[in-house]
Amino acid sequence: MVNTAQKGKSMENRELLKAMEERNRRALEGGGTERIRRQHEGGKLTARERLDALLEPHTFQELDRLKTHRCTDFGMADKQIPGDGVVTGWGAIHGRQVFVFAQDFTSFGGSLSLAHAEKVCKIMKMAMKVGAPVIGLCDSGGARIQEGVNSLAGYADIFLLNVMASGVIPQITAIMGPSAGGAVYSPALTDWIFMVEKTSYMFITGPEVIKAVTREVVSKEDLGGAMAHAAKSGVAHFTAPDDRGCMAMIRELMSYLPQNNMEDPPRAACSDDPARLDEKLRDAVPADPNKPYDMRTIICSNLDERHFFEVHEHWARNIVVGFGRLDGAPVGIVANQPSIMAGCLDIEASIKGARFVRFCDAFNIPLIIYEDVPGFLPGTHQEYGGIIKHGAKLIYAFCEATVPRITVITRKAYGGAYIVMSSKHIRGDINIAYPTAEIAVMGAEGAVNIISRGQIQAAADPQAERRRLISAYREKFYNPYRAAELGYIDEVIDPAETRPKLIQALRMLKNKRDTNPPKKHGNIPL
Ligand code: HXC
Repeated sequence: MVNTAQKGKSMENRELLKAMEERNRRALEGGGTERIRRQHEGGKLTARERLDALLEPHTFQELDRLKTHRCTDFGMADKQIPGDGVVTGWGAIHGRQVFVFAQDFTSFGGSLSLAHAEKVCKIMKMAMKVGAPVIGLCDSGGARIQEGVNSLAGYADIFLLNVMASGVIPQITAIMGPSAGGAVYSPALTDWIFMVEKTSYMFITGPEVIKAVTREVVSKEDLGGAMAHAAKSGVAHFTAPDDRGCMAMIRELMSYLPQNNMEDPPRAACSDDPARLDEKLRDAVPADPNKPYDMRTIICSNLDERHFFEVHEHWARNIVVGFGRLDGAPVGIVANQPSIMAGCLDIEASIKGARFVRFCDAFNIPLIIYEDVPGFLPGTHQEYGGIIKHGAKLIYAFCEATVPRITVITRKAYGGAYIVMSSKHIRGDINIAYPTAEIAVMGAEGAVNIISRGQIQAAADPQAERRRLISAYREKFYNPYRAAELGYIDEVIDPAETRPKLIQALRMLKNKRDTNPPKKHGNIPL
């Protein structure tokens, strides 16, 4: 028998449940239907819709849905929106746990209050504790103006955690709306930046300030839109046509990454034959040593399902970097690109390559290097820009990398660039070459001009003598055999066999252990 007191209590409990549901319902509305309508009208999804597209169904567990700001200035005490402009929690991608925050532009323009920052910091700390990636979806007017220095304190807390988490868990940012002022530095401290075309922009100072200070007139899109950062500054690694496309790309990137620096990257089932040969590769490198070709043909041919997920596709295109799989295991690819500037290494290519190598090394992703490089790009622009220190970044990154490294020299491997691209001398594990490989201190024309100037001038027919000497130089050095005799090249292979050779080497290196001397940290030339 239920007595009257118990009945009353259970009524009360139902009322409490109803009140709880009402609070939650209100929180789910964010800034309200009118602002949501405006968000959609601008071609953007809401924070919650973005998370729905990113995470697997029914896996999202929200935290702090009811958290609000504590600001009482400028009438803010009466303005409360539960969640305070950011949706945070955890969910699953490919069945693996990730922590997420999605800024809600419909609530206070997604601006960052101290409470907002505390929510972000809470999930970042949890992610570090349990060793899972953090994905941030940014759509924000920046520091919550009404909060003054408190919002700056919030940013500082996030920056610090970004740095503490760097190299421990993967950090991914998608810019899906405004990101301006100092707020851009949290994304910049993460590993990967996606930008959505036409709806996102990033800049330190906007067009109005630039016009006032320098009189330069530039549109928001040209200054800090997706393509500006993907092709000109290199700040963005990926661009997506819209919000859903962006979420799909993040999901793909995640498929190559381990959960943290202590784990191996996730293997996928592989239906592509590991012993597959590709006879077309025998003609991939043109007979004419100066003729360009697209290195991506060789890269794709060797990967599982010929699928290559390119990073920084539009920036520093003379080097190609990205992810793929070999017999199901994720690998990072770093390749010179002979079809752009003959594959020369310049400032931007060095920075792009070095950052990618360091990410792969931090997260246990083996590296496959394809080499066809005539050297570092000459010229005052490069010298004044600091090619010496920037080129050193790439050397540094390869030298310190302890993940398995396999290099394939397809054609030119000249001078310092030969050393840089993971040569045996800097701890490359397996170094193989195509018969078309040319391993030399420099190109034939330049070399002959330097070492045989006197002999050419003294000859009865200087031009004929020059041609003869160039041809002799080519004969001697434009091949991989001298390096193979010295053990600097492990094997000269039939290009058709590249895929099986890479897979065999990767299997052999599976349990590779290598270390660097203990130190607080190195001093990479920044
Ligand atoms: C408080 C803000 C806000 C902010 C926008 N809102 N930015 N509230 N602090 N920083 C609010 C607006 O008042 C408005 O509220 C709602 O968000 C939507 O903004 P709108 O201006 O109506 O939207 P839109 O026209 O799309 O313009 C978006 C915008 C603009 C370009 C982002 O709002 C803007 O310029 N905001 C200020 C940007 C800024 O200067 N931030 C500070 C940067 S300095 P209602 O209630 O009307 O919907 C910084 C320092 C960080 O961030 C340092 C870290 C180290």
